[in-house]
Amino acid sequence: MQSIQNVPVAIGALVRTALVVGLLWQPPVATAADMHASGRHAAKATEIAEGRSAFRTNCAPCHGLTARGGGRGPDLTSGNWAHGGTDPEIFRTITRGVPGTEMPANVLDDAEVRAIIAFLRSLAPPAHAVVAGDPGRGRQIFAGSAGCATCHMVDGSGGRLGPDLSRVGAARAVAYLVDSIREPDKELTGGATDPNNHYGLPLPYDTVTVVMPGGERMVGVARNEDTFSIQLIAVDQSLHCFLKKDVREVVHERKSLMPAYPESALSASQLQDLLAYLVTLGPDRRAAVRDSR
Ligand code: HEC
Ligand code: HEC
Repeated sequence: MQSIQNVPVAIGALVRTALVVGLLWQPPVATAADMHASGRHAAKATEIAEGRSAFRTNCAPCHGLTARGGGRGPDLTSGNWAHGGTDPEIFRTITRGVPGTEMPANVLDDAEVRAIIAFLRSLAPPAHAVVAGDPGRGRQIFAGSAGCATCHMVDGSGGRLGPDLSRVGAARAVAYLVDSIREPDKELTGGATDPNNHYGLPLPYDTVTVVMPGGERMVGVARNEDTFSIQLIAVDQSLHCFLKKDVREVVHERKSLMPAYPESALSASQLQDLLAYLVTLGPDRRAAVRDSR
């Protein structure tokens, strides 16, 4: 009797276990749990670098080193996705492959796949970004009150402490541009090549301090650097070349030389105008943005 009474209890327990397992189990495409509702998740520079190296090993033989397409696989940077362009869709394409084509299923862990997607996103032009705001006013803010042009070159004029922004609208997503302006330290642009990394990965475009033998310091950004020498553009935009054996220390500060522009320095509507201007920068962008208005 005892054992028969226990049967329903045992079944109940089984059902409960199954329910719990069922609740915990999620289909593979949902494993990228940290994706935003937009279908994208915010990538860090380190993640992009990891993705780049995983891509080189697993995917470059077909898609080319820069993902622009090789002999056997298509360009993955065009922004057009035949098999779906949200993060979960690309995730699925990479892990399951495209049956009936040369695109294989790939056995990679989730973090690696997400890093590869982050890398691909960092290459692809943003889907036609149309930003509410006045590009003409944005241009004036850029060249005038905000002082962006003192550090950034656009179409051949401007300063050279920061990266040339002539193509930035084609190269970068709007969210990245906002971060670049509000929180420059969050994700540094890739700069000079890392002399200690034989894959030639870029060093972050960070603030560099060169300490002279006498202890004086010169602060700027590295234009070129290798194991033995460094070219520094100092904050006054003068160019200096040093042999590393002649200086006491070269310190990479891992933070941006660009000042952060909080709301107090650049209001929300000024930022909007500035973004409307920045997205027009790049080959074909001016026309594309004009057409979509
Ligand atoms: C053996 C060659 C080969 C390898 C290796 C390969 N691919 Fe592919 N891939 C292809 C081909 C061919 C296609 C086009 C499939 C089709 O007909 O749609 C493709 C398609 C894709 C697509 C879909 C593009 C779209 O328009 O939706 C993605 C994403 C992709 N590959 C990513 C990767 C990644 C990431 C890796 C490495 C982990 C990889 N591939 C490895 C050959 C390859
Ligand atoms: C004192 C010099 C300086 C000023 C002023 C300055 N920047 Fe920068 N900017 C930099 C440096 C250096 C970097 C590279 C390091 C980094 O990623 O922050 C940079 C990076 C950027 C990037 C990222 C580019 C990329 O492709 O990754 C954008 C966008 C940008 N700046 C826009 C602006 C805008 C817009 C302004 C004006 C509101 C501005 N900057 C003012 C120095 C400056």
